[in-house]
Amino acid sequence: MALNQLSFLEDKGEYITEWATTPAGKKYPKKIGEFWTSMQRQMHSLHYVVSYRASFKPELPDYFIRRFTAEGDIVFDPFNGRGTTMLQANLLGRTAWGNDINPLSEILSYPKTNPVSYAEIEKRLEEIDLTMPVDFNKHPDLSMFYHPETFREIVNLKNYLQEHTTDADRFIQLIAISRLHGHSNGFFSVYSFPQISVPPENQIKINQKRNQAPDYRPVKPRILKKAAQALKSGKIQHIRNFSRDNIFNTQDSRDMSNLPSEKVQLIVTSPPSSTRQIISLITGLNSGSPASMVNSLGVKLYRPPIYANGRNL
Ligand SMILES: C[S@@+](CC[C@H](N)C(=O)[O-])C[C@H]1O[C@@H](n2cnc3c(N)ncnc32)[C@H](O)[C@@H]1O
Repeated sequence: MALNQLSFLEDKGEYITEWATTPAGKKYPKKIGEFWTSMQRQMHSLHYVVSYRASFKPELPDYFIRRFTAEGDIVFDPFNGRGTTMLQANLLGRTAWGNDINPLSEILSYPKTNPVSYAEIEKRLEEIDLTMPVDFNKHPDLSMFYHPETFREIVNLKNYLQEHTTDADRFIQLIAISRLHGHSNGFFSVYSFPQISVPPENQIKINQKRNQAPDYRPVKPRILKKAAQALKSGKIQHIRNFSRDNIFNTQDSRDMSNLPSEKVQLIVTSPPSSTRQIISLITGLNSGSPASMVNSLGVKLYRPPIYANGRNL
């Protein structure tokens, strides 16, 4: 965050500065304030639909978006992950741009920002036949995760989703991905890890240790149950209204010269690796030296002439 923005918050009494000391005895100003809440799962239910490693709490983008942008502004996350920034931006009436090198990011973020009603999901699921025969030899052996009947349903769903891409289909895909493996009966797999995919040999060990074997877990009721949970905060049409102009990019964010960065009002992001705790925030691309902050994340932004309220700055 640029220093002048911190001062602005300090002026508003939103935090205080205290002098603290590093272990090496060096003094530094420590900002203390509730930048985002420590509460759990209090935001829109869609935020929690799928696990993603190192995602941040929606309270965090919520805080910065509210303070540094207005309705209609564009908010960008160059390391989009499961699309927390994008969804929160749309919920707050902003347009959202997201970029991630991993195509999974768009697969997760698009349906979250283009949700459909429970009734649509129910109707679409009724239309999909998951009972068709499957040649198990044509697929990797995942019998340590899934009962053969569950696996048949998953493969049929996957085949269907490869050819059907309406918003209802994409929402079902999101929910199905979130149900693939985990530690409760709501998942398709026998007890496994929800956040990371363990290799088959590790799952065999888990099964031995827990003395468990995959039981049949019908896919459709699990999708419906999770969809109901994901949609319980409502606001479907509201999110869709503001996501119309969203942009998804799947590329290396070290070069995003194809994006007209002068249109972006705010970047809220958490880059990968150990620096992920550093939340980079660039407000008002017209007000400071955003390029240097972005470059410090290894991100190269295109810097066209900068305009504010129609004036060339
Ligand atoms: C810490 S996660 C972001 C999580 C996100 N804030 C959320 O709440 O879901 C970092 C993301 O950076 C992406 N990533 C890693 N290297 C990248 C690169 N060079 N360009 C674009 N994205 C990259 C990863 O795929 C991962 O999704």
